Amino acid sequence: MSVTEEQVLDALRTVQDPDLHKDIVALQFVKDVKIAGGDVTFTIELTTPACPVRDEMKAEAERKVAALPGVATASANMTASVRARGGFGRQAVPGIKNIITVGAGKGGVGKSTTSVNLALALARKGARVGLMDADVYGPNIPQMLGIKDAPEVGEDKKMVPPEAYGLKVISMGMLVPADQPIIWRGPMLHGAVQQFMRDVAWGELDYLIVDLPPGTGDVSLSLSQSVPVAGAVVVTTPQSVSVADVRKAVGMFRQLNIPILGVVENMSYFVCGHCDERTEIFGHGGGETMAKDFEIPFLGEVPIDTRVRSGGDEGRPIMIAAPEAPAAQAFAAVAGKVAAQISIQAMRVLRVIQTA
Ligand SMILES: Nc1ncnc2c1ncn2[C@@H]1O[C@H](COP(=O)(O)OP(=O)(O)O)[C@@H](O)[C@H]1O
Ligand SMILES: [Mg+2]
Repeated sequence: MSVTEEQVLDALRTVQDPDLHKDIVALQFVKDVKIAGGDVTFTIELTTPACPVRDEMKAEAERKVAALPGVATASANMTASVRARGGFGRQAVPGIKNIITVGAGKGGVGKSTTSVNLALALARKGARVGLMDADVYGPNIPQMLGIKDAPEVGEDKKMVPPEAYGLKVISMGMLVPADQPIIWRGPMLHGAVQQFMRDVAWGELDYLIVDLPPGTGDVSLSLSQSVPVAGAVVVTTPQSVSVADVRKAVGMFRQLNIPILGVVENMSYFVCGHCDERTEIFGHGGGETMAKDFEIPFLGEVPIDTRVRSGGDEGRPIMIAAPEAPAAQAFAAVAGKVAAQISIQAMRVLRVIQTA
């Protein structure tokens, strides 16, 4: 007797998504169950290609189906379809599913570095990713990615974003020549943000990462007024001053009704290349403590590594130059958590609407 589809689904009902706290059948992740004698194949469609538990979930699902009587082999095909914020495909900017801002009050804590490596980590997992450098005061994303081209203007009058390492990139620095610093006033800034959202040929994006300037106020305000922001990633260093600044940023995002996806503690510690000794130069744990205080997720800690800085300076980020380095792995883990938080937010909105 060969196994039935119902039996396969029952087995898969025991596989939970740890972030969404439901089984994968209830979440409608399971598709295309095919039974050919003792060989069972099925598809699991996750809500992000950057799912941190993808491999474990595949192994568990295959193991549970293979354990059914009459099954010789079980094979899960893992795919992903990123949900738009709202879960219904509601998207204020056509084609862009999720807008994620990266910010905190202070300059120099690693916002741009985190934006770049987060975007690259998501792209490496197969997501379609854009990166918008909204730092009007010091737009340095093009340099970090080695981009020298200005955007071309297509037939539809839209700017075509230059690409680097699979990312589509637009920078405030592309609007103004480097030797002509201008003073951005509120309405101008608002106009520029609008233009970058609507007049850029972004195409289809799963995630648009927005790198915020220090002292986030204006750009965040413009963004939250123009488009639905799926969430904010807050970057801090362990020093208590920095943590105090982030406290302000968290207050601001709450006021603007932008969900906070979590906190990253950057430059958390240094591992000596010669003796492997770990030194906590700025102290350690400020980010995690703050996350607990504010009841927001802690997304991880990233060590200090000279390759992070040199990668940024040379236009070859550590995620590309040395993806196996601990700092790159840390950024990749942060990316997985960010993607999971976005899925959680999308589901939460969906559930609220369904039960309303
Ligand atoms: N984890 C890290 N290890 C080493 N250098 C880092 C790290 N994170 C950031 N940096 C360096 O610190 C400087 C400031 O980072 P940046 O991302 O530009 O900060 P922000 O955007 O917050 O102003 C840059 O030179 C960057 O290369
Ligand atoms: Mg920056």
